[in-house]
Amino acid sequence: MDRIRITGGNELNGIIPISGAKNAALPLMIASLLTDDTLTLENVPHLADVEQLIRILGNHGVDISVNGRRERQGEGYSRTVHFTCRNIVDTTAPYELVSKMRASFWVIGPLLARAGQARVSLPGGCAIGTRPVDLFIEALKALGATIEIDSGYINATAPKGGLVGARYVFPKVSVGATHVMLMAATLARGTTIIGNAAREPEVVDLANCLIAMGAKITGAGTSEITIEGVDSLSGARHRVLPDRIETGTYAMAVAMTGGDVVLEGTSARLLETALEAIRRAGAEITETETGLRVVRKGGEIRPVDVVTDPFPGFPTDLQAQFMGLMTRSSGVSHITETIFENRFMHVQELARLGAKISLSGQTAKIEGVPRLRGAPVMATDLRASVSLVIAGLVAEGETTVSRVYHLDRGFERLEEKLTRCGALVERVSD
Ligand code: EPZ
Repeated sequence: MDRIRITGGNELNGIIPISGAKNAALPLMIASLLTDDTLTLENVPHLADVEQLIRILGNHGVDISVNGRRERQGEGYSRTVHFTCRNIVDTTAPYELVSKMRASFWVIGPLLARAGQARVSLPGGCAIGTRPVDLFIEALKALGATIEIDSGYINATAPKGGLVGARYVFPKVSVGATHVMLMAATLARGTTIIGNAAREPEVVDLANCLIAMGAKITGAGTSEITIEGVDSLSGARHRVLPDRIETGTYAMAVAMTGGDVVLEGTSARLLETALEAIRRAGAEITETETGLRVVRKGGEIRPVDVVTDPFPGFPTDLQAQFMGLMTRSSGVSHITETIFENRFMHVQELARLGAKISLSGQTAKIEGVPRLRGAPVMATDLRASVSLVIAGLVAEGETTVSRVYHLDRGFERLEEKLTRCGALVERVSD
């Protein structure tokens, strides 16, 4: 199994191209199930999760062709992928596939809207929390679906004549359930109003793509989205938005090591709250013509408290990385996780590098230390694993991160991007 070996101590200087967002690409790919025409997505990142979803969509009848060009372009390592689902050949998403990636559960929306039925495995828990699916069930029921749970599967059936538009207010903000209700409502009869909708940029990206496919949607990016159902959707060409979590991760890496890096092809509006926290920690961040410039030249890393929240709050997907940064601050900081109940597995691993962190409920108290020391550590989930990389970049000596497959799910060419900026990072195979 591969490991990442990091020798700490180097500043980061140069350019890091930001890839297309994993969490936008996944629902966009799933939206291809809504039309018999071709949906072409540009700027699709080359990641394990994307490849896994390609396999899952193939199972439902989506024909996929990848434009081979992977050369470095202005905005990252772009790939263009064409998705064509002439017919849905299978409305079942089996456990073996759904259990590997939770987002594949989201096929339930388009399958139900276009084929009138779906049998989708319950995704089960995952390392960061229990992650139930009650909100999806209630939203689909509101659109008229009949839902039964049988042997670990959800059997969903649309009424004769298809799903029916409705008003539904989510009791809790959910990105995935918003994506699913949005996709399902595009082909429902009449008007759907989604209340307390997720406002994440990835929801807006999905809505923009659906609009390009002929859907009638207003309000995406606010907490109320209105959808007028249409009879059918057409193909479209859409560019996946830049990855705000990758952007924030590298910005934090530069804040940690010091240096001067341009994050190319990204935009501050995707992560204002996180950028503000990084600025308060001591980095200068400015917008440039090509993206964002992050600079920290000398000076200490200041302690900053953050609380995770749905967009536009501080993203839970950057919580572990920010904790990595705070391990070297000049004082005491507190990080509170409000989205997932078990997203602190990086704490034990950061402690192996010498970090001083104590947990009390959903809040971590981080006492900054003057130095970290390299050690073997284990990745436990995608974002936790990259927090260990950030810490490893300043730890004295060698840090090896095992279970690198977690990183490969969401960070495109991580070691290449960091190495080009002067870090000593390499992938080693046993
Ligand atoms: C998306 O997950 C992202 N995944 C996650 O990123 C991200 O952490 C999360 O949104 C929050 O921003 C993708 O986009 C592929 P939610 P999602 O439904 O949609 C609870 C990463 O590292 N909930 O917004 O699954 C849930 O348990 C990943 O890239 C219910 O209670 O998250 C959580 O506490 C990890 N019932 C909260 O809502 C439900 O039916 C928010 O989860 C659904 C969710």
